[in-house]
Amino acid sequence: MTTSIIKKAVFPAAGFGTRFLPATKAIPKEMLPLVDKPLIQYGVEEAKASGLSEIIIVTGMGKTAIEDHFDTSFELEKLLQEKEKFELLKMIENVSGLVHFAYTRQKKPLGLGHAILITKNLINNEPFAVFLGDDIIDAKVPAMKQMIEVHDKYKSTVLAVQKVPKNQAHLYGVIKGKKVAPGVYKVLDLVEKPKNPPSNLAIIGRYILTPGIFPALEKTQPGSGGEIQLTDALKILISTQDIYAYEFEGSRYDAGDKLGFLKANVSLALKRPELRAEFKKFLKGLKL
Ligand code: UTP
Repeated sequence: MTTSIIKKAVFPAAGFGTRFLPATKAIPKEMLPLVDKPLIQYGVEEAKASGLSEIIIVTGMGKTAIEDHFDTSFELEKLLQEKEKFELLKMIENVSGLVHFAYTRQKKPLGLGHAILITKNLINNEPFAVFLGDDIIDAKVPAMKQMIEVHDKYKSTVLAVQKVPKNQAHLYGVIKGKKVAPGVYKVLDLVEKPKNPPSNLAIIGRYILTPGIFPALEKTQPGSGGEIQLTDALKILISTQDIYAYEFEGSRYDAGDKLGFLKANVSLALKRPELRAEFKKFLKGLKL
C-alpha cells in the first residue's frame, strides 16, 4: 500500500451521458453493467487498490442509484443471510465497505472543470486524484497507483496519456511534451480536440491535480460547448506550475461510448474464470 499524501479521489458523474441514450435517460451511465458490476465500481476498486481512502462523487439530477449502490442495503443483506447465500452476501458487503464516500451535487452540468471546482471545500488544499468513470483501465498495476508513483517523484500535476492513432487525436485533449523519463513527459502545451494535433498523446480520464487547479478553474471562462473545461484550466496552470504526463501501462476502454462499452464487456468477460470457456465457445461459433 502506498504511503503517498494523496488520499482523495474525485469522480465527476454529473454528465448526461448523451452518447448512450436512450439507456441513460433514467439510469445513470455510471450504473451500466460491465459483466456484473456497474462502470463506476471499476474506478472505485482501482482507487482503493491505489491506496486512496476517500471517494468524492459529484452527482446531479437522476443519479441517486449511485449513492444507493455504495450504501449498505440492510434488507438485502438480511435476506441473503437468511437464505444462507454467503458468497453473495460477502460480495454485497464488499461494495458498501469499499472506502469512505462523500457526495456533492452539481446543480447544472456546466462542464467537467466546474464539477471539479465544486469539490474545492472537500479537498482541503491537498493534491488529489480524479477518475472519469467511463475510462476503464485493465492493468496489472492499477493505473492510478502508477500515476501516484510519478506524482510522488515530481510533486506536481500528472495527466494520464495514451498513444492514439493520429486520425483519432482530434477527438481528445492532446499534449505536446518532452520526454523526461521512460513513459514520463513534461507537458509544454495542451489542446482540447485540436484540428492539428501536436502529437498522438491523448489525455485519458485519470488525473492527479494540485490545489492550484482551483484558482485556475475560477479564472476559466466557458469554452467548447459553453462548458468550463478542465483542459482550459490546465492551460492557465501551466504558466505557473509544471505539469507532467504519464503513459500508463494497461488496456483502456472508453465505456461511455457504445463500441468501447461492447469491447470492454467482451474483454472483461473473457477474463472471468466462470464465464471464459463457454463465452469463448459462443464467440467462436459466431463465425465472423
Ligand atoms: P463527458 O464528456 O463524457 O460527458 O464528461 P457525459 O455527459 O458524461 O457523456 P456524453 O459525452 O454526453 O455521452 C466527462 C466526465 O465529466 C462528468 C461526466 O459525468 C463524465 O464523468 N461531467 C461532465 C460532470 O460531472 N459534469 C458536467 O457538467 C460535465
